[in-house]
Amino acid sequence: MSRLLLFPATARVETRRGIPQLTIAGCGLQELAEQYGTPLYLYDQATLEEAVERYRAALRAHYPAPAGLTYAGKAYLSLAMAQWAAAQELWLDCTGAGELAIAAAAKVPREQVLVHGVNKSAEDLRAALRHAGTLVVDNLPELHRVLEFSRSGERLPALWLRLRPGIAVATHAHIQTGQEDSKFGMSREEAAEAVHLCLEHNLPLNGLHFHQGSHFHDPAPLRAALDGALDFAAAMRTEYGWLPEHLSPGGGWGVAYHEAALPHPPVETYVQLVSEHLSAICRERSLPLPRLHLEPGRSIVARAGVAVYRVGTVKRTASRRWLLLDGGLADNPRPALYGARYSALPVIRPERPPAGPAWLGGPYCESGDVLIEGIPLPDVQEGEFIAVPVSGAYQLSMGSNYNGARKPAVLWLRDGEAHLVQRRETPDDLLRRDLPLEHKFLHR
Ligand SMILES: Cc1ncc(COP(=O)(O)O)c(C=O)c1O
Repeated sequence: MSRLLLFPATARVETRRGIPQLTIAGCGLQELAEQYGTPLYLYDQATLEEAVERYRAALRAHYPAPAGLTYAGKAYLSLAMAQWAAAQELWLDCTGAGELAIAAAAKVPREQVLVHGVNKSAEDLRAALRHAGTLVVDNLPELHRVLEFSRSGERLPALWLRLRPGIAVATHAHIQTGQEDSKFGMSREEAAEAVHLCLEHNLPLNGLHFHQGSHFHDPAPLRAALDGALDFAAAMRTEYGWLPEHLSPGGGWGVAYHEAALPHPPVETYVQLVSEHLSAICRERSLPLPRLHLEPGRSIVARAGVAVYRVGTVKRTASRRWLLLDGGLADNPRPALYGARYSALPVIRPERPPAGPAWLGGPYCESGDVLIEGIPLPDVQEGEFIAVPVSGAYQLSMGSNYNGARKPAVLWLRDGEAHLVQRRETPDDLLRRDLPLEHKFLHR
């Protein structure tokens, strides 16, 4: 069953209590959904670690100098995830003071924390100074703010400059970042001025970064962006005698979200292209190989995650069979944001033959709250659970409390054990920030 290949590497169909059901890491999804309620998110540690190891093996095979992996926390971050990243000796990419607070709570060592952000607030910058080993400077005004911190005696993290390569990867327009008119990064001229400013003021500049977009399958556009970054580095060597010790071409490698996109795109293809091209251009320009940093989020965490929903109502309309779920837009805005296509399996007897197409709708007051359109599914009954694979990235991290939705519980699975790492929100959580209006506003 090809749909099963979308699920975490440990996913199986096993007979429990006499009924075949989906299991992950030896844990039955039916029992987990009954015990913890739905919507429920599951993360499989073995799949996370397999993804990390594949990146590391590919870097060892193809890049002849030191290299490292940074997990992009924006894909999904929690205390447990940050602890796991630190234990794996991954660096952690944090955007802003909020993610930095999570990294600090998880005691991620400072030298493993890297900060991104296109318009960092003073609070973001102060948090970066407190918790981060590396700060990626997005623009010149930000660099001037960093310079002010340095003048006031603050110890700065290492600084990298974010270049705008002028070339995006092929992906949805909302997640392209490298194009000329992108809001991210600096032009070559601005970056040259930034290098000058850093050297003039003795700021700890030691790296360059660019990122061209997220969820791409063809790494070819990275060649031209690497050429541009290394041309820039060569020009900075000539002009100022400065060279980056670190180079990060971002993250963005894609995954398969549905069976038509299988097999999962091999990370080796991406890592090999970056490693070989970077090695070749450094050779041609007689530049020393920088330490290479890759920043994957989605390709580490997406497949490790599964969302489980309960079918509350089966409704038939003129030409559709609707399975109405207890989650959707609020925990997974990707279909509404970019028309993302997903797949699904019933948790119990997933190998039943399809009984025609089904539309999986969420409970929220938006016609766009449809998780999956027209997917062949068996004759699923009300009360059954449905599992949606490849749900680990950019779902919970972009989720909302729309219609008073409470964020789902999250379980961490390994070797037959399920550990609660984020409890389900309660109505009290929805009111935690609220203060009552004083009497005078209610009555004239
Ligand atoms: C600077 C930067 N690094 C890394 C990533 C991670 O991308 P992905 O999750 O697609 O690997 C992003 C996401 O857009 C990013 O903006």
